[in-house]
Amino acid sequence: MSKVTPLKWVQGELLILDQRLLPGKEKWIVAKRAETVARAIESLAVRGAPAIGIAAAYGVALEAQRPGITKQELSAVIERLKSTRPTGFNLFSALDRMNQIIESGAQIKSAAFLKEARAIHSEDAAACDAMAAAGLSLFDTEECVLTYCNTGALATGGIGTALGVIRTGFKAKKVREVFACESRPVGQGARLTVWECAKERIPVTLICDNMVAALMSAGKVQRVFVGADRIARNGDSSNKIGTQGVAVIAAKFDIPFHVVAPSTTIDFSLGSGAEIRIEERTSSEVLRCTPGLEKVKGVSVWNPAFDVTPAALIHSIITERGIHRPPFNFTR
Ligand code: MRU
Repeated sequence: MSKVTPLKWVQGELLILDQRLLPGKEKWIVAKRAETVARAIESLAVRGAPAIGIAAAYGVALEAQRPGITKQELSAVIERLKSTRPTGFNLFSALDRMNQIIESGAQIKSAAFLKEARAIHSEDAAACDAMAAAGLSLFDTEECVLTYCNTGALATGGIGTALGVIRTGFKAKKVREVFACESRPVGQGARLTVWECAKERIPVTLICDNMVAALMSAGKVQRVFVGADRIARNGDSSNKIGTQGVAVIAAKFDIPFHVVAPSTTIDFSLGSGAEIRIEERTSSEVLRCTPGLEKVKGVSVWNPAFDVTPAALIHSIITERGIHRPPFNFTR
């Protein structure tokens, strides 16, 4: 169990912890309609591939409670939720499950939608526990590890993916210290991973994203754990922008690089990472990293939210089914 949870279903409403305000403020958004959930996903109030999928599923459950809602209206809600963020696959796998509930019954029964959303939530929590247990077997001795972005309880329905392995490793005295990259421009590592580690009393050291090579060449890190937003059949894995650079540097220094993600993140329809659609976000996310820059006219910005780490740089992919090693060839 984690002390942190990004989503709570309370008496027919979805409470969303507004992650944009962390670590400064813990404020909850009360969602009564799916549109509020859609906007929370778009604005990163809720983020992290598994948490996005769970939030979207509850968004459908919110609408299913509305008296007289039709199947067509509920299908439109699913399409709206699908349009929020293109890269993370859990959104689509969760919404496909919700769509099957529409298709399976003659009438809209709100309890069936809530039951399915709750199942998606609890299955993700169980997957986190299974990945953490599997990941533990990778450690020989107590190690210092590096992670990127936020893959903890805030990003999932349970203890986290990569951060779940790390916190379980810390409890088992296999992890001594975590190095967290800032993960610019949005700073999920600096704002969220550091906050979660502090809550769990895991020793964490924050570094800027451009310090990874220096850290590794100084011998301060023995292993890397990251999450994923969408994984292709061949193991190519998309994750927060900057992850690929970490993998390249880790390979240079012979440091094992592990991806931790539930099988709901694997898109079996994709042969390789070249087919993964990468979300591009607003320029202001980058400009506001430098105070005053938003007022300078004519600055052009490229802001892809994710990159793809080629399978060739990945030592293992840990899912709830166990540790997968290259060559990867994921099948249902
Ligand atoms: O843009 P975000 O914050 O949703 O990106 C999140 C990540 O890239 C995570 O590493 C990924 O979703 C795995 S989280 C378990």
